[in-house]
Amino acid sequence: MMKEMRKIIIGANWKMNKTPQEGVELVSELKEQLGALGDMEVVICPPYPALLPVGAELSGTDMVLGAQNLYWEKEGAYTGEVSPGMLKACGCEYVIIGHSERRHVFGETDDEVAKKVRAALDEGLKPILCVGELLEEREAGKTEAVVKRQLEAALAEVSAEEVSEIVIAYEPVWAIGTGKASTADDAQRVAHFIRQLLAKGYGNEKAEAVRIQYGGSVKPDNVRAFLEQPDVDGALVGGASLKAAVFAELVKNSREG
Ligand code: 13P
Repeated sequence: MMKEMRKIIIGANWKMNKTPQEGVELVSELKEQLGALGDMEVVICPPYPALLPVGAELSGTDMVLGAQNLYWEKEGAYTGEVSPGMLKACGCEYVIIGHSERRHVFGETDDEVAKKVRAALDEGLKPILCVGELLEEREAGKTEAVVKRQLEAALAEVSAEEVSEIVIAYEPVWAIGTGKASTADDAQRVAHFIRQLLAKGYGNEKAEAVRIQYGGSVKPDNVRAFLEQPDVDGALVGGASLKAAVFAELVKNSREG
């Protein structure tokens, strides 16, 4: 499969921003500014309390809903957690898993990430699996080793039939929220490495079907450079997804090839 056959996917990770009302306003403005998306996907990932109203505001548009996290159990005494089935019932199609803030602020382990990926797939949710190295790991030349460890752990229980349901987001931690994006060449190098790992595990054809995003200080003026790379199929966007005009420009720039 060629890159052209993989649908571009832009994710808006709002992180811990926007009340339900603010989220609905943002999406309402986005709808006015974006119009029809054409052959690409835009996934809006609000915080839990905004999922339902934002999902309702998205209905009838080309944009779809995603969550930022989940817990792997179906139900029970897990105070503060949210199950895959609950997300599905809120209309989520995607769920971000293993974001660097989950890993580094909340201490999420590779093993927990793997359980979350498995639980999402079991519920019919598509994981956006985040991987990426810390600055000190990069400076020590360990980028590939870290990405390999995170990827292999997360995909340990994922079959060849399921792997194309997963989107992989390569987000170098030092590029997140810093304004210092990776170069497009570097993003391509790691995205290609990820695809090679997928090919080793699942064969070439399956690996070619998986979409790989770059994330970390993606803005309207640099998104195109990432998307022009042969192994980069989309972007996962934090800060630049919080203002309708900025995010609409970013989405438009990413589809004008
Ligand atoms: P920024 O776009 O704010 O750097 O955040 C990236 C990110 O973490 C998306 O998940």
